[in-house]
Amino acid sequence: METKKDILILAIESSCDETAAAVVKNGRTVLSNIISSQIALHTLYGGVVPELASRKHIEKINPVIEEALSTAGVGLSDIDAIGVTYGPGLVGALLVGVAEAKAIAYAAKKPLVGVHHIEGHVSANYIENPDLEPPFLCLVVSGGHTHLVLVKDYGVYEVIGRTHDDAAGEAYDKVARAIGLGYPGGPKVDALAKEGNSHAIFFPRAHIEGAPFDFSFSGLKSAVLNYLNSCQMKGEEINQADVAASFQQAVVDVLVERAQAAADEFHMERVALAGGVAANSSLRAAMEQACAKRGLKFYRPSPIFCTDNAAMIGTAAYYEFQKGIRSNLELNAVPNLKIGEHG
Ligand code: KG4
Ligand code: ZN
Repeated sequence: METKKDILILAIESSCDETAAAVVKNGRTVLSNIISSQIALHTLYGGVVPELASRKHIEKINPVIEEALSTAGVGLSDIDAIGVTYGPGLVGALLVGVAEAKAIAYAAKKPLVGVHHIEGHVSANYIENPDLEPPFLCLVVSGGHTHLVLVKDYGVYEVIGRTHDDAAGEAYDKVARAIGLGYPGGPKVDALAKEGNSHAIFFPRAHIEGAPFDFSFSGLKSAVLNYLNSCQMKGEEINQADVAASFQQAVVDVLVERAQAAADEFHMERVALAGGVAANSSLRAAMEQACAKRGLKFYRPSPIFCTDNAAMIGTAAYYEFQKGIRSNLELNAVPNLKIGEHG
């Protein structure tokens, strides 16, 4: 009898507003990556409405999983384990994926591996970079999180920096709303900033006393809102592209400076980006340049693997699976799950 060598993970992600499923082979080969985005639905309300997100996940989860399996050309019987995001995220949204994964694991008698959403984002870097191995430094910037993480080994993380208030993506989304760009703001600010002057307006770069790798974006967001208000009161015309470019420059300066300082401090030779904001063209270019200057190797996922997807969950689940980590059918959604915790 032939011994089976390939490990196939069916991964499910439903922590926010994307219903996603993927089949990943041996941790790094994506056989399918299906994403059903709810952007059109939530755009009507200017942001994610949790109850609507849960309902949409329920509607989409089965077709998305079926499509992931058929695109990969495999059936459930070929799958070695089910990986699923169980936190952090919106509790009702997470529950849809977790319940589905448990049902499949039970019915098809497959092992279940609960995955931390942020560990998934970090793991997205493995997909297109066969040479990338821990240790490395990862800057995780998403709609809900801003973390500097030391990836010490597969599945072994130490958070060395975090935001004290807004996440970077949250700041993008709020500023976008204030200048009338709508939801989700990140990609819109990114595009508009290309037409503006990033030195037109000076916005503050916050430093946190005694915490050299931490972040704060609420002061920056307020400074942008104050600037817009004062222009309006003075009857001055607002150049939206200049506001977008100047705001983005302030975010990117802080992210790059702190990541580079952390790479120096912890002697990291590899620096990676992860999370939705890692799709930002200005951040990617600035980090690449800063790494090149210091002789550091720079990694970033393709934009499709930066924003929420299930392929990254499949990759993270694979490394957990290989270590023998399994979740049982008691696995529950944990909306405020801490990095490095396992269920
Ligand atoms: O990782 P993600 O898809 O979801 C969370 O886990 O939060 O990140 C979504 C965030 C949103 O705030 C969105 O505006 C931001 O990522 N984003 C961007 C870009 N694309 C997505 N921010 C800046 N520039 C982009 N190109
Ligand atoms: Zn995410």
